[in-house]
Amino acid sequence: MPAKTYTSAQARTKALFDEEHQFIAPGLQTIALLSELAIDHGTGATLTDLDGNTYLDLNAGVSVASLGHAHPRYIAALTKQLEAVTVGSFTSQPRAELVRLIADLAPGELSRTQFFSGGAEAVEAAIRLARSYTKRTDIVGFTGGFHGKTAGVLPLSDVDWKHLIGPLPTGHHLAPYADPTRYEGSQTECREDAIKELRRLIEQDIAGRPAAIVIEPIQGTAGNIVPPPGFLREVHDVAHEYGALLIADEMITGFGRTGRIFGCSGDDVVPDVMTLGKGMASGFPVSALVSTDEIMAAKPFSLPSASSSSYGGNPLAAAAALVTIQTILSDKLVENSASVGVVLRDGLQALATRHRSIANVRGQGLLIGFDLVADQKSKTLLPKEKCIEFFKGCLADGLIMMSYTPRVRVHPPLILSAEQANSALAIIDRALERME
Ligand SMILES: Cc1ncc(COP(=O)(O)O)c(C=O)c1O
Repeated sequence: MPAKTYTSAQARTKALFDEEHQFIAPGLQTIALLSELAIDHGTGATLTDLDGNTYLDLNAGVSVASLGHAHPRYIAALTKQLEAVTVGSFTSQPRAELVRLIADLAPGELSRTQFFSGGAEAVEAAIRLARSYTKRTDIVGFTGGFHGKTAGVLPLSDVDWKHLIGPLPTGHHLAPYADPTRYEGSQTECREDAIKELRRLIEQDIAGRPAAIVIEPIQGTAGNIVPPPGFLREVHDVAHEYGALLIADEMITGFGRTGRIFGCSGDDVVPDVMTLGKGMASGFPVSALVSTDEIMAAKPFSLPSASSSSYGGNPLAAAAALVTIQTILSDKLVENSASVGVVLRDGLQALATRHRSIANVRGQGLLIGFDLVADQKSKTLLPKEKCIEFFKGCLADGLIMMSYTPRVRVHPPLILSAEQANSALAIIDRALERME
């Protein structure tokens, strides 16, 4: 290929992006493809590219970097562990401390943890556990849900391309999620209709014998959709009424993201199993599944080597998760998530009164969504090209945010300050102005 010349203020960034894209496979996250960024380093809630341009990061690696970038305590803990021991499934000081801490924080009697490396792997393990415990097979998920892309969870992930790579494993069913932004009627009606449909599906499609219901307390990939109050509780009650386990997939909502320690605490629900990951280790690839003594003892899940994996909970992963959770607690980041979340949400609501193209502002803590729409009355979602224009407008002004689809997702590091939230709002304001 002939060498390109770059003249912009992003010459080195673009050059490295292009160089890498000669060899990296397609299918990367859309935010990486559209932004064409090559990142040199991160500090707190900001990222700096190779040319020295600094961006406010409202994405955090899709809700991963809960402590932000290059947190000094995180660096110190991982460096110390690198110098000690990194691999193996033997008991280590950080893992022993970590499982105790998770048991202390988890609701109800959820006190036993197994570790994995990615989110899909943990949700798949939760399904294996539910099948081991209930001796049943069928799993119910929800429309709009996302639990990963490996075969065991793909049927539960509402992605349009999945049927092109079938056959998918059978025994998975999707009930409608109670999404108030897609429902004409009150929140109560929205909740009641969804529960009615859930019951119908369980009775008619699986003869009343589900092994588990898998649910995100707030649906992340769908656009940070908050269901009506009481929905999670009713899903929990339906699961138990039919003898199924409730698996709360807290991959995104866990560890302070929603302004509470877990997303299911919002409805005061104690699930039977929780799956955790993403922000739990602020970027180190570790995920987990937490359940009760009784459920975790189910065979074959509990047989030696039956639930383990090569990297799950190795000493380095455990050190990363431990320091992250300890810092979330010591630095009151759950509280910060709640209070700065209000600043962002209120600010977005205020923008919605002045701009015709933003609606349905929603969220809890620093898990926030809004829609890009044609007008406030019809709330017709804007076409993709228009959203990409908005995304690029924000980026050019120094803001990274998942705003290239009409269902905008906002999930910054939990350390975001109110001042940074206001800077982000000013950038969004200007980008909307230009787009409109
Ligand atoms: C709720 C939820 N569960 C599971 C996953 C899958 O995680 P991973 O990409 O680490 O496999 C995701 C990823 O976005 C998620 O949002």
